[in-house]
Amino acid sequence: MKPARRPSNPLFSSGPCAKRPGWSLDALDGALLGRSHRSKPGKAKLKEVIDLTRAVLAIPGDYRIGIVPASDTGAVEMALWNLLGERGVDMMAWESFGKEWVTDVTKQLRLSDVRTIQAPYGELPDLSQADFSRDVVFTWNGTTSGVRVPDGDWIPADREGLSICDATSAAFAMDIPWSKIDVATWSWQKVLGGEAAHGMLVLSPRAVARLESFQPDRPLPKIFRLTSGGKLIEGIFVGDTINTPSMLCVEDAIDGLRWSLSVGGLTQLIRRSEQNLRIVSEWVAASTWAGFLGDDPATRSCTSICLRFTDPEVTALTPEAQADFAKKLATLLEKEEAAFDAGSYRDAPPGLRLWGGATVENEDMEAVLPWLDWAFATVKAETFGR
Ligand SMILES: Cc1ncc(COP(=O)(O)O)c(C=O)c1O
Repeated sequence: MKPARRPSNPLFSSGPCAKRPGWSLDALDGALLGRSHRSKPGKAKLKEVIDLTRAVLAIPGDYRIGIVPASDTGAVEMALWNLLGERGVDMMAWESFGKEWVTDVTKQLRLSDVRTIQAPYGELPDLSQADFSRDVVFTWNGTTSGVRVPDGDWIPADREGLSICDATSAAFAMDIPWSKIDVATWSWQKVLGGEAAHGMLVLSPRAVARLESFQPDRPLPKIFRLTSGGKLIEGIFVGDTINTPSMLCVEDAIDGLRWSLSVGGLTQLIRRSEQNLRIVSEWVAASTWAGFLGDDPATRSCTSICLRFTDPEVTALTPEAQADFAKKLATLLEKEEAAFDAGSYRDAPPGLRLWGGATVENEDMEAVLPWLDWAFATVKAETFGR
């Protein structure tokens, strides 16, 4: 039976993610449009993003927070290009994005001393293999496999190398222990449902010390440069951006951060997201056809919730036929306006992916699950001619 009720907001994309509850274009009324981002009010808006970010995420006062070009990719690559090469690096990867950073380091930067520590989709590599006398690059939450690191306990407090973390689908939904992190990056269009364009780059004092003591032997385009004359460009970390940001996106980022505070701050953002995972977990426990892509509950993501098929008839299909099945399922969910963008990532094993970040209401997560059951039964009947 087709469920009677649709989610009030059927947007489950893993990026750009659903806007915060109650959002409308009116939220952008205060945007500083047609004015210079380097004007006094322009800089104040940019600094407000930085200050609110520090407040919501409880980022230590001696860490720098910058708004940088080219979304999360820009922020990660800025870190890799500026910081790596001073010592060996361990690259930890378990899904598409982590693997992209491995490609960057091995094929583009072509660093000589690189160890790659990988695991397949659904698993986490052995974190104890990371050698923190070296630099270590990892993704806090693997958006395409729905597997996250459980905590920061595997990162020593007295490390010699830098811990460099792509936290784009983790920040604002997972607890990030800042003392264990030297570099963190994310983009605005994830957990707070902001607009895509800009990246956030957080640097610990040790990361800054590296920037000021190590000059990489490679050209750096202006868009990546964090130092001038061997000193950190401090302006980047108070709102003096490298190039021109969208002040409309900036206003929206401020709106998302203010909303975070209005619902009770980071604790409540995490609670909302973990509750979404709990709702899906209860449904999976009773499901005859769906399971988590990640087997270990301790590493299952509360933001990018990735599901695979467990139905014996579907798993007996060829990989291509399973991918086709998954596509049909996602298409049907869209046609019914029950869930948009719920298909798994193009490189990931076939299945579904539901974003459960803080902007997704728990009631909507509850409401979408009967639709998954209905859509699965419908596509299965079509596929097997019943
Ligand atoms: C873990 C991770 N890293 C990097 C990216 C790329 O982010 P952006 O498109 O903001 O550059 C994504 C996007 O989904 C991601 O999930």
